[in-house]
Parts: sequence; C-alpha cells; structure tokens
Amino acid sequence: MTGADRDDRRYVELTTRSARLINAMAMVINLMIIASTWGDWQVFAIAAIGHTVVVFVNWYVSVALVPRYGARVDVARAVFNTCVCSALYQLIGWPLPVWFWLPFTALTFQEFGGRSSLVVLAIMCVVQGGAGLACGVAPLVPLAFVGLTVVCHVVARQRTAIIRQMLATSDRQRAELARAELELRQAQKLEAIGRLAAGVAHEINTPMQFIGDSLSFVRDGVGDLLGGPCDPTEVAYLRAQLPAAIARASDGVARVAATVRSLGRFANPGGVAAEVDVNAAIHDALVLATRDYELVADVALDLGTLPLVTCDGAAIRQVLHGLVTNAAQAIADTDARRGTIAVTSRRRRDGVSIAVADTGTGIAEAARAHIFDPFFTTKPVGRGSGQSLAAARAIVERHGGRITFVTEVGKGTTFEVFLPVGAVRAAA
Ligand SMILES: Nc1ncnc2c1ncn2[C@@H]1O[C@H](COP(=O)(O)OP(=O)(O)OP(=O)(O)O)[C@@H](O)[C@H]1O
Ligand SMILES: [Mg+2]
Repeated sequence: MTGADRDDRRYVELTTRSARLINAMAMVINLMIIASTWGDWQVFAIAAIGHTVVVFVNWYVSVALVPRYGARVDVARAVFNTCVCSALYQLIGWPLPVWFWLPFTALTFQEFGGRSSLVVLAIMCVVQGGAGLACGVAPLVPLAFVGLTVVCHVVARQRTAIIRQMLATSDRQRAELARAELELRQAQKLEAIGRLAAGVAHEINTPMQFIGDSLSFVRDGVGDLLGGPCDPTEVAYLRAQLPAAIARASDGVARVAATVRSLGRFANPGGVAAEVDVNAAIHDALVLATRDYELVADVALDLGTLPLVTCDGAAIRQVLHGLVTNAAQAIADTDARRGTIAVTSRRRRDGVSIAVADTGTGIAEAARAHIFDPFFTTKPVGRGSGQSLAAARAIVERHGGRITFVTEVGKGTTFEVFLPVGAVRAAA
C-alpha cells in the first residue's frame, strides 16, 4: 500500500468517525442561516428549500461517495457547496451566519487529502468573498472571516502534521517490533531444536548403554565357552544368562529404533495433509517427551478406537508433545513426589478428541486468559518460552478443530483437543 493510499484510508476513517459531529455542526449553521431570514417569508422559503437540497446532496456524498473515493470527493463537494450556496445567498441577502462556512470548512478538512485542501479553501474564500462583495456586503465581514479561516487552517494543519508524525513513528516502531519478534522466533526455534536434540540423545543413550553392557557380557561368555573346558556351574550360569542378555540387547535396539522412527515422523515436512492414526501420534509424542516426564510422572493411557484423521501429522504430534511437556512441568512444580499424566483419546460424532490431564499445579486465575498468547510464560528463561500453546491453538484451528482446558489450582489441568475427521486445510 502506498503512503497516499494509507493517508486516504485514514482520511476516510477519521471523517467517518467524526461525521456525526461535523454533520450536526453543519446543520446548526444551516438553521442559523434559515432562521436569520425569519419574517421575510419569501426569502425564508427560498433559504429553506435551497438548504434542504444542499443538505441532501451533502448527505448522499458523505454516505455513498466519500467512503468509496476518499478525500478527492470532499474537495469536489466543498467547491460545489461554495458555488451553489453563493448563488443562493444572492437570493437571500447574505445573512451573517453564511460566513461561518469558511472557518468551519478549514476546521473540518483533514490534511490527509494533501495540498488540495489548501487550494479548495482558497477557492472558497475567493468565490464566497467575491460574491459577497459583489452583492454589497461590507468588506470587513469577508475579510474578518477569511482571516479567521486562515488561523483555523494553520492550527488544523499543524495538529494534523503532529498526528501524521506520530503515526509514522508508530508505523516504524511496529516494523521494528515485528523484526525483533522474527529474530526472537528464530532464536527460539534454534533453542527448541537444541532441546529436542538433547532429548533424543538422552533417549538413545540409555538403551545404547545396556546394549553395550549386554553385548560385552555375551562376548565374554561366548569367549569363555569357546575358549576351552569350563566348569559346569559356569556353563549353567552362562546358559541361563546369555539369552537374557541377548533379549536385553535386542530390546534396546527396538527402543532406539522406536525413537528414531518417532523423530523421523516429527521431522516430516509440515503442512502436508495425510491420513493420520492419532493414537500412533500420541505414542510418538510420548516417546519423544519421555525425558520430560519420566522422573516426575506416570503415564496412564486410555486410547479409544479412532478413525484415521486427515491432518498434518507432524503438526499434531507437535501439539501433543507440547501438552505432555507442559503437564510434566506442572507436576514437577508440585510438592508431590510423582504425579500422573492421563492421555485419553475418544471418537466423537464428527471427529476425535484427545485429552491430556495432569495432577500438576493447575493454572492460576490471572494466567488463564493469557496462556494461548504468543510468548506468555510463567516459567523461567530456559525452561519455557511461551510458544507451545500459541502454536498448538494455531495448528488446531487451522484444522478446523478447537483446544480447550479446565483447571483447578492445586488439583491439575486437562487440555482437550478436538479434531474433525476430515480436518484439513493443512498447509498454512
Ligand atoms: N498443564 C499445565 N498446567 C499448568 N500450567 C500450564 C499448563 N500448560 C500450560 N500452562 C501455563 O501456560 C503457560 C504457557 O504455556 P506454553 O506451553 O505456551 O509455554 P511454556 O510452557 O511456558 O513454554 P514453551 O514454549 O517452552 O512450551 C505456561 O507458562 C504455564 O504457565
Ligand atoms: Mg510449554
């Protein structure tokens, strides 16, 4: 949008907002002019009819044309008014209130229309002043009102200049804020990747350790068995322990494989709609959040039979991961040694719902209205950046779903996500 377009839009906004006051003031001047012809009934009738026509034309222009064409129409209207009214005043003898139009117009013209308003004011002064003088009005009257018009115009112009300057400053500040927000988002994205990488490293590290231990045990045991005669108790011991060690190692491999699979699904490019098994998405989110909750909470799963949901699977897993992490953090903040995160999924009439309930701190009354605001967090730096729920709501709403919560301080919180089955406008 160009600066001129923006100015024009603001002009229309401002005039629309102050239209009632301006119209009322104009009406008062009209009535004063008509009233000043009281007693001379022929002139009174001309004044009444003439002003009714002018008022109607002005009403139509301000309602129908100014919003569509902006300041330019007002310029044309002012010239029209001056010419038609000057002709009318010849007939009714130039009563004093007709001169109020000049300062009135200077006050009500907004400067967003640019230079044209100045030109129009000058034309009005010349036309009305000239016509008045030609009709025999005492020169002092037009002179005094033209002077007043100039003063009104200068004051209005300076005030408008100040407002424009303030608007420009606020535009600049808004742009700077948007840039800073973008930079912050990027930094937080990197931080989130770091957290995810640390979580994955931890998830893989533990099974790798017992895979390593088990394989060392197998290597030593097999070495002993193959190395020569062993005593029978040792053989019996190895026979009992070797299969268990191999089972532990393959269990570890399965855990690593599961983590890598979950990670792969998280890394799927977002914005792609596919048929998603929401229960599997819950499992994936839980696997990747293991490090966040395992020390503080037990997970109770109650998963119903669900239809496949057409949605952006990576984004939905991100939503669930955020909810589980929040639940774990809320439990960690209580005095209890351990808590419970209950994850429930249910088929609903036209979609599926997933509930994540925790026995954590609950959400304080004052925070409830803000938890979905971007960057709202009650957590210290490094623990929370206030983005998960804002992102979660955006994602869920993008799918035509909703996210709600109930909470009780000291008892816990339940978040519920509803997704319609044929959800999606997945690509954002
Ligand atoms: N289950 C919950 N129990 C209690 N408070 C919660 C819960 N979930 C969210 N909140 C509150 O809502 C705030 C916003 O949550 P959100 O997940 O958006 O940000 P965060 O957890 O602070 O940071 P991050 O972006 O790293 O997740 C939290 O700081 C917390 O105060
Ligand atoms: Mg969070």
